Amino acid sequence: MIVAIDGPSGAGKSTVAKAVARKLGFACLDTGAMYRAVAWRALHEGIDLSNGEAVGNVARDRPISFEHDSDVSRPARVLIGGVDVTRVIRTAEIDQLVSVVSAHPSVRAALLDQQRRIGQAGDYVVEGRDIGTVVFPDAAVKVFLSASDEARARRRLRQNLRRKVGSTDLEEVLANIRQRDERDSSRAAAPLRAADDAVRIDSSSLSIDEVTDRICALVNQVK
Ligand code: C5P
Repeated sequence: MIVAIDGPSGAGKSTVAKAVARKLGFACLDTGAMYRAVAWRALHEGIDLSNGEAVGNVARDRPISFEHDSDVSRPARVLIGGVDVTRVIRTAEIDQLVSVVSAHPSVRAALLDQQRRIGQAGDYVVEGRDIGTVVFPDAAVKVFLSASDEARARRRLRQNLRRKVGSTDLEEVLANIRQRDERDSSRAAAPLRAADDAVRIDSSSLSIDEVTDRICALVNQVK
């Protein structure tokens, strides 16, 4: 079974996806980490990120893997072409560049294959921008999770402080989130949008537990 959670940056997708996965005993797939890994790898191979063909080759030729410990719902280590990039994909630089990379159809096609292969291997909570619309259009449950810009920026800031990586300036985080959402929503290939049959949840004034419970209730309805 696939539970698809889409939405803009900072809406709480990662935290909620992990909590839902833990409660249901599902595995969790963070597709944003895959786009981040490709952006990091292309940057470090000295590739011009606006060159769709060259960046697409990186996405196709450098397989991404997730290494889990025994609790599969816990955050996994992310590797691309054998290099552990778990931390380095969370920097402000990658925050800035990732939506340029993810707009290339060649990159999306390469990652789509990998995402479907991973998801088909079992019960997964999959989070991203196009999971309910493109990657798993037949997902059993689809959620579109949003929140106000300010709530999302405050959450991202707290996450950056906790992880000791990325920007710690609220205005900068807010500007970055808005720019990324604009790019993600306006691109031609698989833009960020809610699937017609997605349940919309605004998490601005809900706790993680409340959002998690709502999603688990949706899953239990279709089980
Ligand atoms: O979720 P996260 O903020 O880590 O995603 C990073 C970026 O990856 C997004 O801003 C978007 O450009 C891209 N992305 C995407 N499609 C997905 C997941 C992420 O285009 N399914």
